[in-house]
Amino acid sequence: MTSSAPQPGQTITPVRIAGTGSYLPERIMTNQELEKSVDTSDEWIVSRTGIRARRIAADDENTSDLASKAGLKALEQAGIDGADVDLIIVATITPDTLTPATACYVQQKIGALGAVAFDVSAACSGFLYALEIARHSVGAGAFKNALIIGAEKLSAFVDWTDRNTCVLFGDGAGAAVIVPSENGGGRVLSSQLGTDGAQAELLNIPGGGSACPITVENAPQKLATLAMQGREVFKHAVNAMKKASIDGITAAGLTAKDIKLLIPHQANLRIIDAIVERLEVNRDDVYINLDKYGNTSAAAVAIALDEAHREGRVERGDKILLVAFGAGLTWASAVIEW
Ligand code: COA
Repeated sequence: MTSSAPQPGQTITPVRIAGTGSYLPERIMTNQELEKSVDTSDEWIVSRTGIRARRIAADDENTSDLASKAGLKALEQAGIDGADVDLIIVATITPDTLTPATACYVQQKIGALGAVAFDVSAACSGFLYALEIARHSVGAGAFKNALIIGAEKLSAFVDWTDRNTCVLFGDGAGAAVIVPSENGGGRVLSSQLGTDGAQAELLNIPGGGSACPITVENAPQKLATLAMQGREVFKHAVNAMKKASIDGITAAGLTAKDIKLLIPHQANLRIIDAIVERLEVNRDDVYINLDKYGNTSAAAVAIALDEAHREGRVERGDKILLVAFGAGLTWASAVIEW
């Protein structure tokens, strides 16, 4: 499925981002710490990925806790009380429980007792999938506002003895509040979503679902952890994010030169460099924080958006491009006039 800016005659009204927030767990795990537990080196990790550290949630800190803290910060910035939130969408592949949705726990934790709440599972593209759902839901008037959150506790689904994957991922959450746009007050200009289920095997958590429940017999195989064919995923990520970016910019009626800030999914610096080169975007206009946090899947773009916003990297009227890619395979982009 793809979609773009509302066409004349469509009943959906534009929406804007009224506030952003993020939360990162306190504990910092450096590459040097990982050198002690798996056969890897800071040099290998930095040169192959750009990652220097990642955050790890405490044992009693669940995805919904990270999500709630990020969500409350976004609400505070938007000047909206928890009790007035109408819709909560949490994008995550590391839910507190398979059911109910993590968004239901968030609803309780932020006191949004009147809100409708559900999760979206679209891996690293999840936050932008949630943005698109919120854009239509709020734009059509079905909800007066939406709190969208990307939140992950990937540390609970990583095999800490597998150097191919454990060095890549981290925990965190980012959030945004979506409201109808007032005249001249910023808006989502375009949104592109895509999925290729034929490539589902390239990146998945094979166990723990109904297809492969965890049993006493298979427990030693650690099937409820992330498995990835890194090189293949890399190629798809570059191609899909490049196409989603170009399609998004075109659908917004813009060119790459109009983009003030590119906020890409934070998985690998080499992937970002490849996209930047192909898009002919100025490297200084790209927001990067994966060195500090690693790949936080659905949270990554949301955290980066909040940090960029709070650091003053986006100002009213700026055109920004968000682009993501993840398991599914899924990809997504959004062009926003701030
Ligand atoms: N430390 C040291 N060596 C490692 C290592 C680590 N942490 N992880 C893998 N290696 C080794 C491999 O075993 C391999 O050794 P071999 O040649 O003896 O078999 C070698 O490094 C090269 O592995 P390769 O997979 O070719 O490396 P790469 O350059 O493709 O980088 C990734 C690996 C995972 C960093 C890269 O493929 C990648 O980023 N892929 C996309 C990941 C991603 O974005 N996933 C999420 C999508 S949202």
